[in-house]
Amino acid sequence: MDYARHHALIVVTICLSSLLFISPSPTHAAAAIHAAPTKLVKEICGQTKNYTFCVEALESDRRTVSASDLVALTKIALELSIANATSSRAYIDDQLKSNETEPAKRPSLKACVSSYDAVVASFKSALLEVIEDEDYQTANYDVAIAGDEANNCEQSLASAGFQDLSITTRNNFIKSFSNIGYVLTDLLDMAADAPSHLVRESCNKTTLTQWNYTFCVEALESDPRNASTSDLLTLTNIAIELAIANATKAQAHLYDMLKNSDTGSNFKAPLEGYVRSLIRYDD
Ligand SMILES: *[C@@H]1O[C@H](CO)[C@@H](O)[C@H](O)[C@H]1NC(C)=O
Ligand SMILES: *[C@@H]1O[C@H](CO)[C@@H](O)[C@H](O)[C@H]1NC(C)=O
Ligand SMILES: *[C@@H]1O[C@H](CO)[C@@H](O)[C@H](O)[C@H]1NC(C)=O
Ligand SMILES: *[C@@H]1O[C@H](CO)[C@@H](O)[C@H](O)[C@H]1NC(C)=O
Ligand SMILES: *[C@@H]1O[C@H](CO)[C@@H](O)[C@H](O)[C@H]1NC(C)=O
Ligand SMILES: *[C@@H]1O[C@H](CO)[C@@H](O)[C@H](O)[C@H]1NC(C)=O
Ligand SMILES: *[C@@H]1O[C@H](CO)[C@@H](O)[C@H](O)[C@H]1NC(C)=O
Repeated sequence: MDYARHHALIVVTICLSSLLFISPSPTHAAAAIHAAPTKLVKEICGQTKNYTFCVEALESDRRTVSASDLVALTKIALELSIANATSSRAYIDDQLKSNETEPAKRPSLKACVSSYDAVVASFKSALLEVIEDEDYQTANYDVAIAGDEANNCEQSLASAGFQDLSITTRNNFIKSFSNIGYVLTDLLDMAADAPSHLVRESCNKTTLTQWNYTFCVEALESDPRNASTSDLLTLTNIAIELAIANATKAQAHLYDMLKNSDTGSNFKAPLEGYVRSLIRYDD
């Protein structure tokens, strides 16, 4: 007991003194206790091409630590992308207008400014598509376009024989932001396509419904009302209506078979029994 307390005291003392040694300035102390990336940030950035870039970029926004869902994080990422691209566009435009820029470089700089106009526009469209339209597929396409446009800028400089590290670095930022936006909107798109919680839960009770899970989800989602369904009663009504519609169609098909003289008579008796049992669905 006494030993344990003594031991703990030593550990605390060592920790405190090492903090003092490692962190001589307040800035360093703050950096030492800087929060680790959230689970969501780790999960997203782990799917991007450059984990470090992604974490650093997202965490440069103080809202990121409290972003708890994909939409919130996507909004932050796209706003950072827009700010970054806007600033780079201004930088390249300044170079274009500078009297110190050699004339031969001007056409590629001009192309780069156009590219950056497209980069900014694409990120802005993607942001609206995520926030207002919930159209994650189009947003996904637009963030990819932004990356392509940064490539176009790189290409126009290279094909004119120019190497500008300051612009290449900025193009690489855009490509990385495009990649982060791509991962986020792709996940949003997949989440939107996934069956609702209620459908998943209901369909998981396959022994009750006698439907297998895939069949159940596909059948329930074939109804356009599925998306807005949040209560069990509505879902049950949808399921029953689907079953009636399905059985009615099957019944009509079987009646046709009964009326058809080609159907063998020893097949007609069991068929009639089955058709009658289907009618009972309507009761
Ligand atoms: C990843 O991003 C970090 C931080 O921006 C950068 O230092 C590093 O060079 C990048 N790695 C690659 C392979 O691009
Ligand atoms: C653009 O993003 C990079 C990477 O996060 C960052 O280092 C740079 O400061 C940003 N520039 C602007 C103007 O936001
Ligand atoms: C560029 O323009 C600035 C004024 O905007 C002037 O001071 C400078 O001398 C010019 N440089 C050249 C190389 O013409
Ligand atoms: C179905 O429910 C079980 C236990 O309740 C769970 O372990 C399983 O992941 C669920 N399956 C699906 C497809 O939701
Ligand atoms: C489950 O339903 C799906 C979709 O209707 C079907 O393709 C599959 O064969 C069924 N599986 C079983 C084991 O019945
Ligand atoms: C009956 O339901 C199955 C499964 O959802 C579907 O594949 C089939 O097209 C439906 N038939 C009719 C006539 O609605
Ligand atoms: C609901 O049904 C529509 C129309 O069939 C379909 O496009 C959609 O993917 C389904 N699921 C959700 C969650 O909306």
